[in-house]
Amino acid sequence: MNIQEHVSLRPYNTFGFSHYARYFTSIGDTDSLQAAFSWAHARNLHTLVLGGGSNILLRGDFHGLVIHIAIKGIGVWKEDDSYVWVKCGAGEIWHQVVLHCIAQGWGGLENLSLIPGTVGAAPMQNIGAYGVEIKDVFDHLEAFEIATGELRTFDGPTCKFGYRESIFKHEAKGKYIISSVTFRLTKHPEFNTTYGALQETLEKMNVHTLNLKAVSDAVIHIRQSKLPDPAQLGNAGSFFKNPVVSTRQFEELKNTYPDLPSYPQANGVKVPAGWLIEACGWKGKRMGAVGVHHQQALVLVNYGEGTGEEVEALARSIQESVKEKFGIDLQPEVNFI
Ligand code: EPU
Repeated sequence: MNIQEHVSLRPYNTFGFSHYARYFTSIGDTDSLQAAFSWAHARNLHTLVLGGGSNILLRGDFHGLVIHIAIKGIGVWKEDDSYVWVKCGAGEIWHQVVLHCIAQGWGGLENLSLIPGTVGAAPMQNIGAYGVEIKDVFDHLEAFEIATGELRTFDGPTCKFGYRESIFKHEAKGKYIISSVTFRLTKHPEFNTTYGALQETLEKMNVHTLNLKAVSDAVIHIRQSKLPDPAQLGNAGSFFKNPVVSTRQFEELKNTYPDLPSYPQANGVKVPAGWLIEACGWKGKRMGAVGVHHQQALVLVNYGEGTGEEVEALARSIQESVKEKFGIDLQPEVNFI
């Protein structure tokens, strides 16, 4: 195990904040994970586990040990005539896995093209886009239990997936490190193009016979036209979750704001946070070195020299505006560190 000191975390968080880790190690297997935790424990240090850093807000230097997960590998775990189960190391780059599976003709991940981050981080918040969530293709995952050093297997129901939610954000938080994820992909793809923008884009691209590559290309096109590339402009994707309000509150809102889009749910009505934030006048606004993206108000950006504290202050101001105008509490989707 190689422990480095005073390492800039800039390459390890997609906001691009240059906070430092007192200690840093990159680990490629679960034995090294055990060693890293023992090392930190012996020195009474806090630990912070990072994948691609695409869903975190670093608010300052980290005084403990940062453990960067670099467990690699993509392989077929098993297959039958209809499905292939693909096991991926937690440190694999999500989009590389998607492209690999598309190239093999395995369906299920194409709508989730170009989502930043790593495989290990994906189940934590049940990543989703364009009508598909990871839970739809999830088979099981393996996770290292910090307290015992043992590897445990979690199937779908055990993960308690919900909208941008899983057990790893709640009762299992801080207790496990996901080391691999196995997806069940189909050899005879059925396409999900119900999401409006996806259908429109496929039509514009003159795609008449759907195939994995075309759907993926359309998703990539939509994402690139709306969402900033973290390599060019620091961001963590959607900063807030889309709130679910009661049917009664929605009807009242709809009376005042007839244009408010809505997605009915079992427990109420989901409304897009981006719309609410834009309606409060935040879209494209800049506060110092940070701001609200000009094409998608749900994305907060770092123009270069911004800090996590500045983004946090901006996020709080946005939450206050939305609460005042609509009476809705926005919950962050990103994890504050
Ligand atoms: N909208 C606005 N103004 C904005 C942004 C959006 O009015 O600035 C409106 C749009 O016109 C549309 C609605 O809000 O009517 C929904 O917008 P969009 O389709 O862009 O999706 P979203 O709800 O803003 C969610 C996910 C994204 C995912 C897209 C596509 C969350 C928190 N975000 O965004 O996920 O890519 O749907 O499925 O659920 C992420 O989690 O990081 C992420 C990017």
